[in-house]
Amino acid sequence: MKFNLLVVDDEKNIREGLGTSLEMDGYNIYLAGNGEEAMGLLNTNDIDLIITDLRMPVMSGQELLKKVISSYPGMPVIILTGHGTIETAVTAMRDGAYDFLTKPVNLDRLTLLVKRALRGRELMIEHRELKAEVDRLKSKNKFSRIIGKSSSMMRVMEVVEQVAATKASVLITGESGVGKELIADAVHELSDRKDKAFIKVHCAALSESLLESELFGHEKGAFTGALARKRGRFELSHLGSIFLDEIGEINQSTQIKILRVLQEKKFERVGGEDTVEIDTRIISATNRDLKEEIEKGNFREDLFYRLNVVNIHVPPLRERKEDISLLASAFLADFVQENGRQIEGFDHKAMLALHNHGWPGNVRELRNCIESAVVMCKGDVITPEDLPPSISQSADQDCIKICTGSTLADAEKHIIIETLNSQKGNKSKTAEVLGIGRKTLHRKLGEYGLDI
Ligand SMILES: Nc1ncnc2c1ncn2[C@@H]1O[C@H](COP(=O)(O)OP(=O)(O)OP(=O)(O)O)[C@@H](O)[C@H]1O
Ligand SMILES: [Mg+2]
Repeated sequence: MKFNLLVVDDEKNIREGLGTSLEMDGYNIYLAGNGEEAMGLLNTNDIDLIITDLRMPVMSGQELLKKVISSYPGMPVIILTGHGTIETAVTAMRDGAYDFLTKPVNLDRLTLLVKRALRGRELMIEHRELKAEVDRLKSKNKFSRIIGKSSSMMRVMEVVEQVAATKASVLITGESGVGKELIADAVHELSDRKDKAFIKVHCAALSESLLESELFGHEKGAFTGALARKRGRFELSHLGSIFLDEIGEINQSTQIKILRVLQEKKFERVGGEDTVEIDTRIISATNRDLKEEIEKGNFREDLFYRLNVVNIHVPPLRERKEDISLLASAFLADFVQENGRQIEGFDHKAMLALHNHGWPGNVRELRNCIESAVVMCKGDVITPEDLPPSISQSADQDCIKICTGSTLADAEKHIIIETLNSQKGNKSKTAEVLGIGRKTLHRKLGEYGLDI
């Protein structure tokens, strides 16, 4: 991104001198001799930052500043001022200038100031774009709370939409924190049962006997403490949906009872003989590999097939890295609002750290990380120091990109060269990092014609 800078000063030598110096820093420069000329250029060009003198004929710096602030909110304006006019500069800051420098201008300070102001602007633009994208996604898809643009999440949402309209049982699988519950919510909300009950049962949180009476209810006197008849969760979900979370944790006897509900849509309350008939949509979730549990004899195969009419697998975050910045921006906006903070975005190193991290706790871990970063952040941008140490360290790892279509030999050659580079040519260290012996490294370097 090449930025456009506008330098305004009535003294030709000064504006041209500053212009040349900033041009060497890699910016496009526009020059103006007074406020009026400056406004003309602003209206016809895409200017990113203004550096202006205060005292100028025709239209002063103060007047220019006021016009810019009202017509181009967020535009950084750096004020240049002679020694005698410090007070005016302070007023200018109050009026919304980004900062001021006294003349004669120290070019190093100016360079730094410009860089800082533009970095903020860049982040703001990036953040605004992401926010717009989040809003667009929110309004476009009906999954108002599910954020993601990776192809794998798009596919998940497609399946959700397709299956929601049916009565088929859905089993949602995926690691902890990937968003299984959010998907379950979407399946219910997009179905024609959305106005009826959506009952959630966390199967792992209850003991065996409690779970049964929770699910199926009990009659008065069914056990000590059963003072009245109680309707169970299945009954409460009649005409709506039920979400059986952590279904992999339930014991054999409850498995049989749930199987019967699936097969016959019938059950009895604990301690009762009356048969209750229900019409409910069953959504379940697990982070276990149920096929493995079946092999181990812990889970009934017939129940598995009944629950798993449609499987929705939510991939771990590390396999859909495209979602990270979008999720991070959305969570940032939420927590910034919740905490009443003014944080514009992430700096590049922080973003890199978020990208490089493996996220074993998936989206939940990312969300917690952003919440703590908002609390820890002292400035108006999140830096790696604001992130938990385990995550900020990830910024220091260099990533290399290997494209699909490369051969294994290409990839190997690539990673050897990059590691050798990062170890500054030290072969013992390179071998150690790569987890191979020095001899093997030498042989491979020879094979690739790199053994110099
Ligand atoms: N795609 C997403 N967009 C927005 N928020 C998400 C997304 N995925 C997950 N989250 C958020 O991450 C957190 C964890 O999600 P959720 O509870 O659905 O995960 P889970 O897969 O059910 O985890 P567990 O297996 O531990 O129960 C929640 O706060 C949820 O709102
Ligand atoms: Mg869950």
